[in-house]
Amino acid sequence: MTTLDSFRLDGARILVTGASRGIGRAVAFALAEAGARLALGARTAEALKESADRIGGLGPAPVLAPGDLAEPGRAAEVVDTAAALLGGLDGVVHNAGILPTAPDGTPLLLPLQLLPEAAWQEVVAVNLNATAAVCRQAHRHLSAAGGGSLLLMSSVAGVIGAPLLEAYAATKAAQISLARSMATGWARQGIRVNALCPGWTRTDLTSFAHAEGPLNDWLLAHVPLGRWAEPAEVAAAALFLLSPAAGYLTGHALLLDGGLSVADGGLAGIPKPPPPFGEPPVGED
Ligand SMILES: NC(=O)c1ccc[n+]([C@@H]2O[C@H](COP(=O)([O-])OP(=O)(O)OC[C@H]3O[C@@H](n4cnc5c(N)ncnc54)[C@H](OP(=O)(O)O)[C@@H]3O)[C@@H](O)[C@H]2O)c1
Repeated sequence: MTTLDSFRLDGARILVTGASRGIGRAVAFALAEAGARLALGARTAEALKESADRIGGLGPAPVLAPGDLAEPGRAAEVVDTAAALLGGLDGVVHNAGILPTAPDGTPLLLPLQLLPEAAWQEVVAVNLNATAAVCRQAHRHLSAAGGGSLLLMSSVAGVIGAPLLEAYAATKAAQISLARSMATGWARQGIRVNALCPGWTRTDLTSFAHAEGPLNDWLLAHVPLGRWAEPAEVAAAALFLLSPAAGYLTGHALLLDGGLSVADGGLAGIPKPPPPFGEPPVGED
């Protein structure tokens, strides 16, 4: 097998949750390009079907495993449906996740003490409880297959925190903790478990920020690479983590954040103090 071949997933049976748009759809595209047979999950049937139709042009037609992961018992059903339709599972990318929102869907960026209890509960239900349920059920199918790979789509917020998004950051930190904890317990069954921690990525989830000038500028001022990540860039890292190329990689949380989490990274776009702390003025060495 060449190094490049080790990134392929020919015939691997993989469930991707949250595959109706954004990062999940891009991940599904990347895995399909690498030869995987896919089951796609999300709530919105039409969008899911659109993902499947587009991906079908790349390889085997994906099967659908729709459902609201926040409903009690649904997460296990979604995983079981995917396994039944694909004839087993070799991998799961659990990507579905939400920000706290108002009833009209507007993101709620509020300090914890002002966040309505219902918004906290909703975030915990989708980002944490559903994650645990997906993992629990995934273990059954991955161990039955003799091993496999589980990837949790966490966030840089889970590593460095996110003021005004405490509920989100706490659930994303919990995903990293789950991935690391499960990885050790499941390793001898041949199951690798990792978390992927993107930074600001251009999707519907973040449209409130990349749609507005001053907020967009302020956010990017904190990102050393100075731009948003594209979903396809997150998908490339997901493909690596799922593939045999990452065969010795487990219990890892991979940051893909344009440098945001580097100690001084958050100051990248903000004027630095004069030397010896900052860069010398232009013309001086
Ligand atoms: N975008 C970023 O900047 C960023 C950064 C770091 C981490 N992430 C993480 O990456 C993941 C994907 O984010 P994204 O930006 O691609 O978000 P997105 O565009 O809002 O897509 C979210 C996906 O999750 C599905 N979903 C949401 N709630 C669900 C539920 N209750 N049951 C089943 N499916 C559900 C959505 O489909 P339906 O609405 O059809 O159900 C959709 O397919 C999330 O876990 C997010 O936390 C995103």
